[in-house]
Amino acid sequence: MITMPLLTKRFGKIRPTSIKDYMAHEGYEAFKKALLMDRIEVIGEVERSKIRGRGGAGFPAHIKLMALAKEKATPKYVVCNADEGEPGNFKDRHLMEHDPHAVIEGMLIAAYATRATHGVIYIRGEYQHAMNLMKQAVKAAYEEKLLGDNILDQGMSFDIEIRSGAGSYVCGEEFALLESLEGKAGRTRVKPPFPTEKGLFGKPTLINNVETFANYPVIIDMTGAAYAKIGTPSSTGTKLISLSGNVKNKGVYEVPFGVPIRTIINELGGGVAGGRKLKMVQLGGACGPIIPEYMLDMIVDFDRFEEFESKTGAGAIIVIDDRFDFFDLLSNISRFFAHESCGKCTPCREGNLQLIKTIQKFIDKKATEKDLSALESQARVMHYTSLCGLGQTAPTAIISMLYFFRGVFLERIEASEMEVSS
Ligand SMILES: Cc1cc2nc3c(=O)[nH]c(=O)nc-3n(C[C@H](O)[C@H](O)[C@H](O)COP(=O)(O)O)c2cc1C
Ligand code: SF4
Repeated sequence: MITMPLLTKRFGKIRPTSIKDYMAHEGYEAFKKALLMDRIEVIGEVERSKIRGRGGAGFPAHIKLMALAKEKATPKYVVCNADEGEPGNFKDRHLMEHDPHAVIEGMLIAAYATRATHGVIYIRGEYQHAMNLMKQAVKAAYEEKLLGDNILDQGMSFDIEIRSGAGSYVCGEEFALLESLEGKAGRTRVKPPFPTEKGLFGKPTLINNVETFANYPVIIDMTGAAYAKIGTPSSTGTKLISLSGNVKNKGVYEVPFGVPIRTIINELGGGVAGGRKLKMVQLGGACGPIIPEYMLDMIVDFDRFEEFESKTGAGAIIVIDDRFDFFDLLSNISRFFAHESCGKCTPCREGNLQLIKTIQKFIDKKATEKDLSALESQARVMHYTSLCGLGQTAPTAIISMLYFFRGVFLERIEASEMEVSS
């Protein structure tokens, strides 16, 4: 069996809004177990699990928890990043819509471990259904004395507020998210200081992805050591994969790290839709690398993706069949980033526009060797000098295509030369 239901084990078995159903399926037991543990021991379990954040960057989760726990300033915040604006990603929505209490329970465990008293779930504005379910779940948790003052009569206080994004992709970036929560324009901040030192309203703040939070109850329940045995040495546990594009069975699948991408596409996705030929696959979402068919035996693993100057992303796999043109795709991606750029720094604000212009020359068959060099240097400059992850990863698709499909660029230049001479 390729799938492994740790986060998805209750999906379809409970009514998402029913806290009774959740509790009947071991819900909030991990939090109760954590309440009996020393706070530092809870972080120790997370450390032993070796879990890395599921928001895209793969940062070790225990380091942020420990950093927040050590901070003296109060109040401390726990923020759940449910912005999920990256094209091709929809696993956080799926998780919130099927098991909203798992996210709340994870936030409670993090709050207990760090002595945080305030929680915020920042949900993408377009996710109205998920937002309604999360609101109902939060209300039910208050009614059961799992949120509020003196939780379960154990002296812990923790409140959760739900806030909505307004459609900006960059607001998923942690500093832009904090600015947005403070009522300002969603733009990143220069770091350090990191959110655990100076986060929301200048106070210590933990920001984790929806899926990261949902993993905390699993880890406390099964122990960190048992969790660390799942997956690969560098990427433990399971990963929710958003599988989309030209594949028969699109959807969200939970697999242990280490499963080859080809297996996910063929065995879970049922292969390419309509019997067409697979041309390429984009990993992670619009900000991820595009790889050719012969690379599909690569496994889902944070470090394998880093070999291609990119992170694993949030676990999207976008299948692209032979009907699609390389340059149309790149143009589309760059237009998305140009639209979403907040404009704060020059490499991203101007770089995306430059990329669009250069790619257009390839589409119009007017590209020369000089344009190829320009494309390469524009992409590299953006990657290395942009202020936040948006600009840094916007050219990843181009960088990966130049690496894997260089011949396609050269062919187009040749075709351009023939066009001129004819
Ligand atoms: C442009 C941009 C958009 C992002 N969008 C999201 C998002 O929607 N959800 C998310 O969890 N992380 C997103 N991130 C990553 C966050 O900045 C942050 O690393 C993450 O929320 C940390 O959670 P984790 O430690 O659990 O991975 C984004 C980063 C960038 C640069
Ligand atoms: S990289 Fe782009 S989104 Fe990020 S600060 Fe610079 S302009 Fe804004």
